[in-house]
Amino acid sequence: MRQLFQRKPIAELLVSELDTPHSLKRVLGAGDLIMLAIGAVIGAGIFGAIGTAAAGQYDAAGNMVRAGAGPALVLSFVLLGVCCALAGLCYAELASMIPQAGSAYAYSYATLGEVVAWIIGWDLILEYAVGNVAVAISWGDYFNTLMRNFGVHLPVWITTGYRTALLSPDPAVHGLLQTAPHVAGVPILINLPAFLIVGLITWLLLLGVRESARTNNILVIIKLLVLALFIVAGFSHLNSVNYTPFAPNGWRGIHQGAAIVFFAYIGFDAISTAAEETRNPQRNLPIGILGGLAICTLIYVIVGAVLTGMVKYTELGVADPLAKALEVAGFRTVGWIVALGAIVSMSAVLLVFQYGQPRIFFAMARDGLLPPWAARISARRRVPYITTIVTGVFVAVWALIGDANETYNLTNIGTLFAFALVSAGVLVLRRTDPDRPRPFRVPWAIVVAPVSAALCIYVMLGLPLETWIRFAAWLVIGLALYVGYGFKHSRIRAGANRGG
Ligand code: ALA
Repeated sequence: MRQLFQRKPIAELLVSELDTPHSLKRVLGAGDLIMLAIGAVIGAGIFGAIGTAAAGQYDAAGNMVRAGAGPALVLSFVLLGVCCALAGLCYAELASMIPQAGSAYAYSYATLGEVVAWIIGWDLILEYAVGNVAVAISWGDYFNTLMRNFGVHLPVWITTGYRTALLSPDPAVHGLLQTAPHVAGVPILINLPAFLIVGLITWLLLLGVRESARTNNILVIIKLLVLALFIVAGFSHLNSVNYTPFAPNGWRGIHQGAAIVFFAYIGFDAISTAAEETRNPQRNLPIGILGGLAICTLIYVIVGAVLTGMVKYTELGVADPLAKALEVAGFRTVGWIVALGAIVSMSAVLLVFQYGQPRIFFAMARDGLLPPWAARISARRRVPYITTIVTGVFVAVWALIGDANETYNLTNIGTLFAFALVSAGVLVLRRTDPDRPRPFRVPWAIVVAPVSAALCIYVMLGLPLETWIRFAAWLVIGLALYVGYGFKHSRIRAGANRGG
């Protein structure tokens, strides 16, 4: 039993920094990290999931399965801002103590032991790979909006995933199950744009393309300009009538809205994976995480307030709510510019996450928890090519037939769970290793860390039961794999000094 909770010594984590696929240069400062955080965060959440969070969700029979927040969506954003700020502080303490790639996986290996690290690593697939399925689907939706604006109408059956048609309360979409072309009795309903964008991103990553800090800065400026354009255009079209009722489903709506729009916050933790490339990570990481989060929360609150003031919240339950609101308000040109901005923003998120997932697999394989082939690097381009391809195929195929809301839910539950464990890890490490230097200390950790974990679990409780069941099944599969493979092959327990 003790072996299950074997911890990877922090000193060893630091040594294995040298063991990275290529030596990374410490070039990033606090400003770059804030930009990286915004780059990874602003995407499908604010352009897509926000609609369902405001309007709620209905099943194909028209029954409400998820209460919408309505205009009180701004309170959902504030709740999430607090939750993520506390979790962000915990990430910052661990990231500054353990400035090594691998994010929550590496931290939990050092704090909570191997089996928990495995669970987190497995769980991070939900954040990174499944998260990207949702982003790709939302990308496809905005791509269609843009095409329509140019008068190109793609056939619905190649732009709608099977699960979306199955779950949609809209008779026109649900009816596709009958009207789409059939092959051997099976309706052909695929989201081809989502599939193709993932293929393209995977190909770029195989070529060794990665977003440089400079490209990221340009992309962030585009994101901020597009959202600013939306806010300015929308502001001239606010109607106070739309703000009543303010909270149509009371606190339940705010809570359940928060549980879906949490997706918009995912990514700020990803910058902890840049620890190896950060100058003075002890100082700069906390500034990057918290600064990025504060800016995003402010932007989200303003976008939420403008969106729900422009059109009745009940009209926002669509895949491209920002474009829809602008269309209803009569801003056609602004509408397609925002759609274009959404596509650019989401492409950047896809790149960051599609880049991150293979490297988490890589870190796990280096520790012996995954087979050695997962740590294989191409000789020429220094890319973990096998895991890059596996991730690409997994995400592309799921995006082809998947549904955005379903994948938002799964991603959110997995990420919140990781946040809760990271928060617990701070407390554990304070007890087990009190003297280790902590360049950044969570203030009032004895209160902040448990409240952070409790808030994450509280937001998780806003997710539907079926999401919990799927999450439990995912963890059980993960544990079975650990018992079948990782437990036997772990390098730490085999006594090896270094991974690689
Ligand atoms: N926060 C990221 C997005 O909204 C994942 O796309």
